[in-house]
Amino acid sequence: MLKTALIEAAQAGAREILRFFNKEFKISNKQGVNNLVTEADHAAEKAIIDVIHNYFPGHQVLGEESGAIPKDSDYKWIVDPIDGTINFAHGIPLNCVSIAIEHENKIIMAAVYNPHLNEFFFAEKGEGAYLNDKPIRVSEQTKAINACLVTGFPYTYINMANGPLDIFERFVRKGVPVRRLGSAAIDLCWVACGRFDGFYEHKLEPWDSAAGYLLVKEAGGKVTDHSGNPFSVYQHKVLATNGRIHNEMVEIINNRKEL
Ligand code: IPD
Ligand code: CA
Ligand code: CA
Repeated sequence: MLKTALIEAAQAGAREILRFFNKEFKISNKQGVNNLVTEADHAAEKAIIDVIHNYFPGHQVLGEESGAIPKDSDYKWIVDPIDGTINFAHGIPLNCVSIAIEHENKIIMAAVYNPHLNEFFFAEKGEGAYLNDKPIRVSEQTKAINACLVTGFPYTYINMANGPLDIFERFVRKGVPVRRLGSAAIDLCWVACGRFDGFYEHKLEPWDSAAGYLLVKEAGGKVTDHSGNPFSVYQHKVLATNGRIHNEMVEIINNRKEL
């Protein structure tokens, strides 16, 4: 029943995305100059939470737009109704619904659905990762210098050693392709299915990373913070790779190794 509810919730959110995509909708600003939220984000989140609470009235929800809906339950649904809102607002078909289910502090099931490409990513802890019902695996690349990477930049730039632009520059100076799609959930899923060899970002929130994290793990990849420590969806720095280039990526990110 969890899986049925998760799939229905993702589909309900995606219907709202498609209903508003390339149409007129209200846009407002959150913190930071370009941190937008649209009418569609609110509508999609409402549709998703309605499905969740229809099936499981007692489950907790942590939604990007509604915040925490606490309940006395071991289950928490972590919801990003539209990951890639800026893309959405500009008519760029790289945005998705991202939903993860946490049980007793572990992510046990995840769905990321990009309805524009009709790509439905699903993973269950211990049961593998799937794209449109077909099993997916991470890539086999063994060297960072030959990798195809993806990253993202926060809305409020963080000035720090080994910050987003420092690391970007390190790779780009050596000719390593680093893409920037604008949806962390899609970035992670595209690592899971082997399109990218690695992804890193500095300031993600649980709703950006929780579902994609399980997808990468279940597809055979590795997810940690930028120092190689075990990953928690509640910390901001994410490094997700095919596993083979992981240690090298940690060294490069921390500027301990030249590419
Ligand atoms: C954003 C996207 C983007 C990432 C930002 C996130 P939103 O989520 O995942 O790729 O770089 O840090 O905030 O705002 O589109 O849901
Ligand atoms: Ca997001
Ligand atoms: Ca969002």
